[in-house]
Amino acid sequence: MKLVGIIGDPVGHSLSPRMHNAAFRKMGLNFLYVPFHITPKGLASFVRQATRWQMAGFNVTIPHKERILSHLDWISPKARTIGAVNTVEIRNGRLEGHNTDADGYRLSLQKDLGFHLARKTAVVFGAGGAARAVVFALARAGARKITILNRTPDKARRLATEFSRLFPKVVWASAPLRPMEMRKCFPAADLVVNTTSVGLQGSRFSKIPWKALPRKAIVSDLVYRPRMTPLLKDARKKGLRTHTGEGMLLHQGALAFRLWTGKTPDVSVMKQAIETSRLAS
Ligand code: ATR
Repeated sequence: MKLVGIIGDPVGHSLSPRMHNAAFRKMGLNFLYVPFHITPKGLASFVRQATRWQMAGFNVTIPHKERILSHLDWISPKARTIGAVNTVEIRNGRLEGHNTDADGYRLSLQKDLGFHLARKTAVVFGAGGAARAVVFALARAGARKITILNRTPDKARRLATEFSRLFPKVVWASAPLRPMEMRKCFPAADLVVNTTSVGLQGSRFSKIPWKALPRKAIVSDLVYRPRMTPLLKDARKKGLRTHTGEGMLLHQGALAFRLWTGKTPDVSVMKQAIETSRLAS
């Protein structure tokens, strides 16, 4: 049997074990996906164990996505640019780091909503690791303009400056995450995406100037617990299209699955597993 898994702190809430194990079962693959609660102190020893156990690889979540980089033998150019690894593949004892979050996000918009990013205008809330993957996906797919709004505006400015060197054709802007700034960039937005942790456990943004958004805008949230965050619920009430974080979870997982097994998973089985666990919780 081949072992894969996810490391995180906390990790108990992760739906990845159910999602992957359902697909392994369906496809008759002798793989097992296990959650590992690993604290930052335990990271180095886990990495040593993973090679000893001859794991096929593992997913990486909070708070290790950036820390893991220094433990790897090779990092894909994409993961290096994003500055975060969410999937490790172990090949002949070598640890190779990938980022499937960015493509997972793009695929989810495309496949679940039929939304293509080329020439679109996006507003991104947040400037942390998750924002870097999303911003990379948007820029790579040919977005026309990306405005990054963050509680700490300096971080948004630095991210916009860094990515403007990599993607000079995109128009970049940054500002504090405040209603006043939202009012300025919302009217041109095709997509608003929340990459911050606001929305987890029902927390919410204090005020969103909904009237400034055009009717065609899609509101997207990376937070997937609850599935309908307060931001998405409010957007829906205003008649806007919404995009939940479960889509990115699904598609980043499907890409990781392919790296470990060399096979394309049955995405509908993975999706069903996510839905079943949501209904059971
Ligand atoms: P992740 O890897 O999940 O993106 P991170 O790198 O720690 O985690 O980034 C967290 C993001 O959520 C940051 O943009 C953070 O804003 P700051 O840069 O100002 O810290 C944002 N964030 C977290 N809590 C927030 C809150 N209560 N209100 C607004 N933004 C918040």
